[in-house]
Amino acid sequence: MKFETIIEPFRIKAVEPIRMTTREQRQNALEKAGYNLFLLPAEDVLIDLLTDSGTGAMSSAQWAGMMRGDESYAGARSFYEFKNAVQQITGLEHVIPTHQGRAAERILFGSLLSPGDIVPNNTHFDTTRANVEYRGATALDIPIAEGRKPALIHPFKGNIDLEELEKLLVQQREHIPLVMITVTNNSGGGQPVSMANIRAASEICHRYDVPLFLDACRFAENAWFIKLREEGYEHKTPLEIAQEMFSYVDGCTMSAKKDGLANIGGFLALNDDALAQKCKTNLILTEGFPTYGGLAGYDLEAIAVGLHEVVEEDYLRYRIRSVAYLGDKLTQAGIPIVQPPGGHAIYIDALTMLPHIPQSEYPAWSLSLALYLEGGIRSVEIGSVMFGLQTDGSEKPAAMELVRLAFPRRVYTQSHVDYLAEVLLYVNHIKDRIRGVHIVEALPVLRHFSARLEPVNGILCAS
Ligand SMILES: Cc1ncc(COP(=O)(O)O)c(C=O)c1O
Repeated sequence: MKFETIIEPFRIKAVEPIRMTTREQRQNALEKAGYNLFLLPAEDVLIDLLTDSGTGAMSSAQWAGMMRGDESYAGARSFYEFKNAVQQITGLEHVIPTHQGRAAERILFGSLLSPGDIVPNNTHFDTTRANVEYRGATALDIPIAEGRKPALIHPFKGNIDLEELEKLLVQQREHIPLVMITVTNNSGGGQPVSMANIRAASEICHRYDVPLFLDACRFAENAWFIKLREEGYEHKTPLEIAQEMFSYVDGCTMSAKKDGLANIGGFLALNDDALAQKCKTNLILTEGFPTYGGLAGYDLEAIAVGLHEVVEEDYLRYRIRSVAYLGDKLTQAGIPIVQPPGGHAIYIDALTMLPHIPQSEYPAWSLSLALYLEGGIRSVEIGSVMFGLQTDGSEKPAAMELVRLAFPRRVYTQSHVDYLAEVLLYVNHIKDRIRGVHIVEALPVLRHFSARLEPVNGILCAS
């Protein structure tokens, strides 16, 4: 390519205004929301990086697909469009639609797990962990050691630890009904898994006759990293790479709110006939008939088109580069982030950035509040407010204090990213003024969603 600038590979046909606010308005909004960004009205947010899940922009082809949606209760044409799109990528035999990713998890684990079982995974996402534990089983994270070191650069920090996997299968085969690999590894910083690692994990699992499943939410982003970083894949298309990834597994769970480029939806796909039958029976109880699974026909159409669009090279090049572009700017400014930047998000290491705030005063939460106060940016704390409260009511500091900036797909342009960098550099410049927070009231479970907090000495960040 003669020109180096990577542009947004789309024109904008519909726009949604975002509202500028003053620092004073944002200070008031924070007070009203109990210093909890989850409790802010989205209208008060300028750039919303709370999550990349279900927040993307659909294409004109997806909207057209929605108009074509067949709403028949059983056997709708839209279901077959959806099934074909899933099968073209995964090659898996049975395709079961669900209303989102966690429903696929609940149905799979509800049909397969018993109390005392163990599910190894590179790193379980929190809903995956919760659904495993709900069945009385253990969700065991076995990422490679490099995946636990935020500043370390490694091309495939999402890899599963193959030695640990084999050891587990040798020692506890009878308690392991399946193994999972999450691509990309969201809870581990959005880091990719190599093809060699998926292939080797598959070989090990099949030697012990254990099925391997992908948590495939970000399969296309993972395929793009393989193309960029793994020898032998530079000339393959993302679709060919994704097809090879799925060829090694026996099934997958998927949230179509990520790499399905849809605002809602998900699926479970698998080869085992008997297990698929059990899952379908389970599906009918709570999600719906197996040809719609809790989705409207128009949702199935949007996902079918989204799955074709998400493996386009221009899209993936722009997507991964936008995240890395922000990562480069922050790294150049000395802001500590999880390295290298992941596929869908930048994770700031708040413990390193704000050493004057002890973990008991939630440095990552404070930093996320400061980003909102100074620049109207909404991010999410992945630290001790989210993970610190133990089931016995005690408090244990989280392993890391991270602020995640997750990029919605096809929503923001380069100038938005330039603005983000400017705000982050400014906040880094005034970081000594940021103060810690304490919890005023909170529920005993998933407290980060609804807790109310306050700055420890009344002021979060003096202007
Ligand atoms: C890796 C991973 N697995 C599963 C899920 C659950 O998907 P959903 O939010 O659609 O239930 C998510 C959502 O963020 C995820 O990132």
